[in-house]
Amino acid sequence: MAQRPYIVGNWKMHGTRAMLAEARAIDRAAERLIKVEVALAPPATLIHATRKEATLIGVGAQDCHPADGGAHTGDISAAMLKDAGAGFTIVGHSERRADHGESDADVKAKAEAVLASGMNVIVCVGETEEQRDAGKAESVVAKQLKASLPTGEGVAEKVTVAYEPVWAIGTGRTPTVDDIGAMHRSIRKVVQGIYGDEDGAGVRILYGGSVKPDNAAELLAADEVGGALVGGASLTAESFLGIIVAAAEAGED
Ligand code: 13P
Repeated sequence: MAQRPYIVGNWKMHGTRAMLAEARAIDRAAERLIKVEVALAPPATLIHATRKEATLIGVGAQDCHPADGGAHTGDISAAMLKDAGAGFTIVGHSERRADHGESDADVKAKAEAVLASGMNVIVCVGETEEQRDAGKAESVVAKQLKASLPTGEGVAEKVTVAYEPVWAIGTGRTPTVDDIGAMHRSIRKVVQGIYGDEDGAGVRILYGGSVKPDNAAELLAADEVGGALVGGASLTAESFLGIIVAAAEAGED
C-alpha cells in the first residue's frame, strides 16, 4: 500500500451518546497506530460530541443536502456538518441511493456541496448482485464514477472513492481478492481519466462490504486498495481496532 491506509467506520443509523465510549477508545488506540489514518462517521446527532471526545481520528458525516440552506425540513447542509465538527462527508452510499432514490447527479451535487464547505468527500459506488452476475460490474461502477465524482481544479486531493458492492454490505459475503483487485484497477483507470494520470493516481480507493478483523488483512492486500469503509465491525472499539491493526500491518509491506 503506497499511502497510509485509510480506515473509516460508518456507524450508519446506530449510536446514542452511550456509544461515545467506543469513539474514545478508538481514538486512544489510534494514537499508537500512526501508520493508519482512522476516521469515524457517526450519525449527525453525534458528530459534535464525537469530535470533542476523539481528538486524533477524523470525524465525518454520512450524508448532506446539496443546498446551502433553505426550506428543507429535516435535512442538514454541508456547512452545518462542518460547523458541528465534521472534516469529511460520505455521499452516494448505496443505502441512500436505494432508500432515498438518489441518482448519480444527486450524489455529484452533494459532493460539490461538501467540497464547497471545505470538507473532503468520500464518494461511494458499487454494483448489485444482479449487475455482477450479468458481467456488468465494472461498467456499472465506471458509469457511477463518471456521473458522481466532482470535477475541477485541485479537487482530486479532496476526494476518496469507496467501492462497496451492494451484495457484500452487511451480508458476510465478500468478492474474492482477485475480483476486488480487478475492480479497483478499473476504478483507478476511470479516476485517472477524470482527474488526469498524476492527480488520479493519488485518489484513495477504499473497499467496503463485510470487512471484519479476520478478513481485513486479506482484503486490504488486494491491488489498489487504499483502505476500508467499515459498517458493522466499526460499532465496537474491539472489532474496529482489529481491522486497524490489520491495516497497520498491511501498511508495513
Ligand atoms: P458492513 O461492513 O456492515 O458490511 O457495511 C459496509 C458499509 O456499507 C460501510 O459503508
